[in-house]
Amino acid sequence: MPVPRVMHTASPPPDVPQADAAGIEARVADLLSRMTLEEKIGQLAQVSGGRDHVPDHLRDAIREGRVGAVLNEVHVDVVNELQRIATEESRLGIPLLVGRDVIHGFTTVFPIPLGQAASFDPDGVQRAARVAALEAAARGINWTFAPMIDISRDPRWGRVAESLGEDPYLTATLGAAMVRGFQGDQSLGPGHLAACAKHFAGYGACESGRDYATTSIPEHDLRNVHLRPFHAAVQAGVASIMTSFSDVNGVPATANTFLLTQVLREEWGFDGMVVSDWDSIRQLSVHGLTEDDRGSARLAACAGTDMEMASHTYAHHLASLVRDGEVPEARIDAMAGNVLRTKLRLGLLERPYTNPADYPAAASAEHLQAARDAAAACMVLLKNEGHTLPLAADHLTSLAIIGPLADDAYEQLGTWIFDGDAQHSVTPLRALHELVGDRVTLRYARGCATTRSRDDAGFAAAVETATQSDAVVLFLGEEAILSGEAHCRADIGLPGNQEALVEAIAATGKPVILVLMTGRPLALERVAERCHAILCAWHPGTMGGPAIADILFGNVSPSARLPITFPRVTGQVPIYYAQKAGGKPPTHASYIHIDNIEPRAPQLSVGNTSFHLDVLWTPLWPFGHGLSYTTFEYHDISVSAAVVPMEGMVTVSVEVVNTGHRDGDEVVQLYIRDLVASVTRPVKELRAYRRIHLTSGERQVIEFHLTAADLAFYGGAMQRITEPGRFRVWIGGSSDAQLYTEFELRGDTLTLPASTTS
Ligand code: BGC
Repeated sequence: MPVPRVMHTASPPPDVPQADAAGIEARVADLLSRMTLEEKIGQLAQVSGGRDHVPDHLRDAIREGRVGAVLNEVHVDVVNELQRIATEESRLGIPLLVGRDVIHGFTTVFPIPLGQAASFDPDGVQRAARVAALEAAARGINWTFAPMIDISRDPRWGRVAESLGEDPYLTATLGAAMVRGFQGDQSLGPGHLAACAKHFAGYGACESGRDYATTSIPEHDLRNVHLRPFHAAVQAGVASIMTSFSDVNGVPATANTFLLTQVLREEWGFDGMVVSDWDSIRQLSVHGLTEDDRGSARLAACAGTDMEMASHTYAHHLASLVRDGEVPEARIDAMAGNVLRTKLRLGLLERPYTNPADYPAAASAEHLQAARDAAAACMVLLKNEGHTLPLAADHLTSLAIIGPLADDAYEQLGTWIFDGDAQHSVTPLRALHELVGDRVTLRYARGCATTRSRDDAGFAAAVETATQSDAVVLFLGEEAILSGEAHCRADIGLPGNQEALVEAIAATGKPVILVLMTGRPLALERVAERCHAILCAWHPGTMGGPAIADILFGNVSPSARLPITFPRVTGQVPIYYAQKAGGKPPTHASYIHIDNIEPRAPQLSVGNTSFHLDVLWTPLWPFGHGLSYTTFEYHDISVSAAVVPMEGMVTVSVEVVNTGHRDGDEVVQLYIRDLVASVTRPVKELRAYRRIHLTSGERQVIEFHLTAADLAFYGGAMQRITEPGRFRVWIGGSSDAQLYTEFELRGDTLTLPASTTS
């Protein structure tokens, strides 16, 4: 059965008429001409709200025009009071931006972004952001700090959970979908949130996956990999960009003129607003780039950071920096202008107040259904030996449900859920009772107190429960707190004593199904050997339970694909599919037996190639991998022409057949390799994908069209070019796809403007 889709009919208040671009610019100029230097600098300050009241210092600051935005205020009455003070008691009556981390839902929590990425479904991702925007906007929030589109190739980094995974193309397409979901397709306005693409840029490349650690990224990797999703977000009209905490090649992102001015403004033409990350301007002196806050304010302002989040270096120093001639007043005008333009685009000046009655109720049946659909669409069936899944309620008399995550309403929500309400969560245990409790005897044992517990006090009861049952479903993985900002892990195996629990349960000889709830890929080589089926549910959100139950019992066929590689062991990290070949690429003949190291493959070494002695060089599960309850075959890949002119287009087609006994969704993935180029290119790169539905036995010819722009990359001279030559193109159901064809692109090297991308 396909993942069910619902239409969301909830209607926000009608849009106010938007001024055209020229009209907005005229209003920006008019406002600026009437503002004092201090009022302009006031627009650049983002300060914390008082949570449930308006503190006196905040009231005074807003009245005096010293605040442009607040964050973390979610009580609509308080937000309205803040807007009243801004619009009625400040001299110019400019309303406030009200920001919040609305990352994967609001009251209704959707799967973590990494899970949403597994859906390979831009429409679904857009719908999730739309629901989140409606629930947040009902509280007066008008700006979200999402999407997070940092390329994440190191699963030790806790923030992989917030990301859309390892691939620039997938992240670009899904990040743009999130922007459209938050901001609306047409124009910003009531019921929409200004989106904020973050963290610009390269944050995910932190050394050893340790949050906030330094990054060293060669410029062509920066441009080909890390910047690509940000460019797509800019092209999708993202209203704002947040700088990264990290040091990028010696200049922290918050003071990085190359990133914030050259690339973002000059090359891409971005005219929205740039906000610092929390306190990241003040931290420039901690990096050792400046001596003090005054120096930090000067560098950040001159580099292109418009608004300061949380710290006060702009408020304290910008005015005197202007008076002393160290920051030109024109710079302050540009910065304040970017903030005012964002407010005008939001329609805030026309409509500063929020009436919650204009919005659909939070966690409505419709929103919960959307969260359930999204959760089902994000679950990746990693392994399914001997058709262990789906379970058949008619043939099963009893089922053991074991693990600390089987019945934990909070942990299934994942990281960054400030406003998520666990009271709405439906846990797997509850959902399974509701789905099959009348037909199947369900026995529950927690096994471990938490995913981190080191004792085995609960093992005996868990083993007893397994022994009494026909099959076992283990709910293991990571609690929410084990991923997210500053929550990195050096060893990404199953935490605590969970692996020992798997062994104890496997020893019963019962069929073992592992449902993994996690914020990151885990290194599961040993665990995987002991389980018959493994379903990766990520942190699936409010409606994770019913979605899992639907998949376990076959109401829904799993269709999601890994947006990030699963290593066998932590030591393989970083491991990602779009690697470079190197001069001695690994081959299947590369393993040796050595004393003291467990041999993992029987082959003997036949040469020096790129591999580790103690582990296969392949991942446990590659990017794009995911099984279904049906099977798909690919045939007859072909290109429309073997030789294609540089200005032309090539159509690549393939026949996909559902060869199994069930209907199902397949994610058809197209990868390319530029076989010979002036700089080395990855061995495979995702360039297109399409989710299709095929009934049992159905066959469909799928076509993808590629132009020179789809084959472009930043070369040695940092120009976007497409070079002539041979290209290999694979189409299949994962990055491991074997079916390929080739074509030759003929003509002169094409140089493309940096402002366009495919
Ligand atoms: C995070 C940002 C977040 C901000 C506001 C920072 O610590 O890095 O991603 O938006 O806090 O909560």
